Amino acid sequence: MSDEKKVIFSGIQPSGELTIGNYFGALKNWVKLQDEYDCYYCVVDLHAITVRQEPKDLRRRTLELLATYIAAGIDPEKNTMFIQSHVSAHAEAQWILNCFTYVGELSRMTQFKDKSKKYEGNDVGVGAGLLNYPVLMAADILLYQADLVPVGKDQTQHLEITRNIAERFNTLYSPTFKIPEGYIPEKGAKIMSLQEPTKKMSKSSDNPNSFILIMDPPDVIRKKISRAITDSIGVVKYSDEQPGVKNLMNILSITTGMAVEEIEKKYDGQGYAQFKKDVAEALVNELEPIQTKVKELVNDKTYLEEILKKGEQKASYVANKTLSKMMKKVGFIPKFK
Ligand code: TYM
Repeated sequence: MSDEKKVIFSGIQPSGELTIGNYFGALKNWVKLQDEYDCYYCVVDLHAITVRQEPKDLRRRTLELLATYIAAGIDPEKNTMFIQSHVSAHAEAQWILNCFTYVGELSRMTQFKDKSKKYEGNDVGVGAGLLNYPVLMAADILLYQADLVPVGKDQTQHLEITRNIAERFNTLYSPTFKIPEGYIPEKGAKIMSLQEPTKKMSKSSDNPNSFILIMDPPDVIRKKISRAITDSIGVVKYSDEQPGVKNLMNILSITTGMAVEEIEKKYDGQGYAQFKKDVAEALVNELEPIQTKVKELVNDKTYLEEILKKGEQKASYVANKTLSKMMKKVGFIPKFK
């Protein structure tokens, strides 16, 4: 019975094209977990507007992201997929949780500090949405009483603050929220930039050679991998001293299932050329079927809209149950029927 299954909640922002970081850090694991858990996979458009978005691009990317979830293997029959802004409980719960969150703890978040740096010396200043971003993420997770949240390593701090807010609320009132755990994959948790392998691969980088998009054509993938920064050591070894090689080994290991020791053995004494070629082919093999499916699905708007309608109904029902509890506990008078 699906009622007895533990609950998963996760989401991706439709704020840019997805990279293989998003894929290996999050999406690929969602697919693995879908049979065992009752899963809510959300397109977090409210989060996306914390930085300026072109409305028509946001609309297009929102549907493309849903198509990517499905193309990657998330089964719409088994999982609840929906758009965050369709379930108003997220914004409402966020307001309440804001009142149980300290500005100090929000301004200490690494992601907030990094993102707000970009606004230094800029007349516009840092939007309050960027500061409050983790509270919305907490609302997302807590509304569904999620047990597990599969994300990449960069979200660890946001999960920690989610747990803190939930515990604070539970202690002040009475148990209201389940305290969620993170699910951070061993190998894909932090896919690094291909040009600066000590930094996270990010879609917002100015250098397109530093990232691979899920939708990059095979030849582009081959070119980007061949240009990936390695080192002058010339040995395929899984070592922190060779961050570029380590990152490519991680990618090869996730895509082929080979252990890193096997990879070391296979390329022993061969330098990097064949190794890089194989990484590129493994990626092409993994991504090409997804790309074909995404292109097919984005043309079937009726199908996508059906999934979103069903998703919104189920998600609203579950989220509003928790929201009502929250409202009652803080002292709001329920609506008169
Ligand atoms: P977002 O949209 O930035 O990224 C989506 C997911 O991709 C992971 N990720 C990576 N993993 C490994 N290596 C990388 N280089 C890499 N880059 C990104 C992220 O860790 C994430 O899992 N705040 C979230 C979205 C969100 C959310 C939620 C997630 C909103 N509400 C509730 C879980 C639960 C974010 O900005 O992800």
